[in-house]
Amino acid sequence: MNPYQKSSLFSGKRILITAGPTREALDPVRYISNHSTGKMGYALAEAFLQSGALVTLISGPVNLVLAHEHLNLIKVESANEMFRQCSHYFDECEIALFTAAVADYRPEITHLSKIKKTDDTFSLKMVRNRDIAVEFGKIKKPGQFSIGFALESDNELENARLKLIEKNFDLIILNSTNDAGATFGFDTNKITIIDKLGREQHFDLKLKSVLAFDILDSIAAQLKLV
Ligand code: CTP
Repeated sequence: MNPYQKSSLFSGKRILITAGPTREALDPVRYISNHSTGKMGYALAEAFLQSGALVTLISGPVNLVLAHEHLNLIKVESANEMFRQCSHYFDECEIALFTAAVADYRPEITHLSKIKKTDDTFSLKMVRNRDIAVEFGKIKKPGQFSIGFALESDNELENARLKLIEKNFDLIILNSTNDAGATFGFDTNKITIIDKLGREQHFDLKLKSVLAFDILDSIAAQLKLV
């Protein structure tokens, strides 16, 4: 039994989590996406549920299953859909975790019928998606706490600190593509948690399901729940 099942530190707290990739459609049969599997977001959702929280999980397409009486699971495809669903639930949440690997761009045009091949080359014009974390960071109220993830390959700590400020997060969780066994697809991850005061907590490579409880500990400490 994990410690949260006994202490129910987050009992009754409303949590919003975005997870997984988004898919940006080109036509009815093709899309642009990324390798996110949603494992970290789902592990966090499960840890919060075990701690007594009420969780809304807004998830892009993943191969994971999670069921709980206090889970409101909303499945989406595109970044725009994820944004719209967050708009319904952000206001009422006390803690928001942005774990989704949201596509930064989408095809300018989504064709209604299948694109046929014609020339030897094919160019695609992409337009920027809204940054979900930035948009909700702008309207975050006192008493709301937000956590972001930063996936970096270079200048990791510096880039993560910048994202913490730009997106008005209270905590940012850095993972690096340079760490073996970490990030997309693995059951394990290696993270550093950075707070607004610049304090860093480094964690060893661990199962995402175990790291989720380390992240909850860190949030509980920040919110002075312990
Ligand atoms: N994020 C989001 N909406 C987007 C892009 C990112 O909510 N359109 C959130 C992610 O869920 C994560 C954080 O912002 O919590 C950082 O995402 P990341 O992909 O690391 O960075 P980007 O802001 O997309 O910047 P870049 O790709 O240029 O590194």
